[in-house]
Amino acid sequence: MRKVMVIAGTRPEAIKVAPVILGLRDAPDFEPFVAVTAQHREMLDQVLSLFAIVPDADLDILAPGQTLTDVTTRALQGLGPILEAERPDAVVVQGDTTTTFAGALAAFYQRIPVVHVEAGLRTGDPYSPYPEEINRRLTTQLTALHLPPTPTSRANLIAEGVDPARIVVTGNTVIDALHWTVDRRADYGDPALTAIDDDPRRVLLVTAHRRESWGEGMTAIGRALARLADDRDLLIVFPIHRNPVVRDAILPAVAGHTTVVVIEPLGYGGFARLMGRADILLTDSGGVQEEGPSLGKPVLVMRDTTERPEAVEAGTVRLVGTDAELIVTEVRRLLDDDAHYRSMANAVNPYGDGRAVERTIAALRHHLDGGPRPEEFEA
Ligand code: UD1
Ligand code: UDP
Repeated sequence: MRKVMVIAGTRPEAIKVAPVILGLRDAPDFEPFVAVTAQHREMLDQVLSLFAIVPDADLDILAPGQTLTDVTTRALQGLGPILEAERPDAVVVQGDTTTTFAGALAAFYQRIPVVHVEAGLRTGDPYSPYPEEINRRLTTQLTALHLPPTPTSRANLIAEGVDPARIVVTGNTVIDALHWTVDRRADYGDPALTAIDDDPRRVLLVTAHRRESWGEGMTAIGRALARLADDRDLLIVFPIHRNPVVRDAILPAVAGHTTVVVIEPLGYGGFARLMGRADILLTDSGGVQEEGPSLGKPVLVMRDTTERPEAVEAGTVRLVGTDAELIVTEVRRLLDDDAHYRSMANAVNPYGDGRAVERTIAALRHHLDGGPRPEEFEA
């Protein structure tokens, strides 16, 4: 029996490791131990409760206005003793948050092999996204087994000198999570959305939170939404991140606009259903850039760079930055030009086929116990 500690801190990490935890639980030769830093609290708990995951250890570190230093030091100090007590055979971290980096560093300090899920994503710009580009590069240095989601992310790792024998392309576990969730047909989970399935208006679904957009970028996003709100045939739904920095920038800009519905963060089941109902996704989220294409939805990304070029190349994702004018123009173009809309609304699956968990577990067996090398995901 191999003990594998899975570490998560934020909503997107929890969504992407949840199916891995369920897979490890079902495997006869693995015993998962779930440690959460709770860098997010309510948004993390929404995911844990959907997947019925009860953490074995919970550091509960969230504090309003937490700085990067706060999160890093609290996570590192909290995880050390847990790793020492549990001595897992491997530690799984996911993605590029501060919990990811601190978790990998804490495991490295105990000489426990780190397995990095969603490895190898890169923009090449240390400040975009900030601090995630550096979190994931540092995590790569600490990792023993790299699990990139796509051949492109594998190529990034090879270009940085990572040994190919330590890399397995799995597909992104978010697609496994999305399939699991869509199969369960959740309710939206918010009274403001009760009538949305019968609403004749087109729906623009918006999310935003990126640290590099705090300030002018977020204000510009608010301005763009206020302008789009004049269209009576468009319903704008914004499940807003709990960060007060985001709320303070967006809420005053859209106040009084009845076509803009700002709601609390939705559970993943409700959000997945809302992505299915939406006509356009306008976001700076990493996960939504992966889920939208798989659901056949055009995604406009409010960032200047992306580490997920696959769907841009497939034509379903477009970068619009945080320029209010460009955001409005690109949303309007999708609303007004049918041919353009159809060209972006292609269901493509460059990020996964729903079998990433199977490959992840096979890769763990290969790495820890000399099992056969898994077949890799090919986009
Ligand atoms: C974090 C990650 C980012 C990830 C994002 C997903 C870092 C540095 N950033 O950014 O990579 O894309 O999560 O959303 O790791 N808050 C709550 N309750 C919650 C969650 C957040 O109150 O459940 C508030 C708190 O005031 C907190 C603030 O949001 O201080 C920011 O949270 P934090 O985790 O520091 O950064 P995010 O911007 O959420
Ligand atoms: N999501 C959710 N509820 C919401 C908004 C988003 O469950 O109200 C999901 C979304 O489907 C995606 C993930 O949360 O899987 C993205 O989280 P976020 O944008 O916070 O982080 P990122 O992906 O940018 O790291």
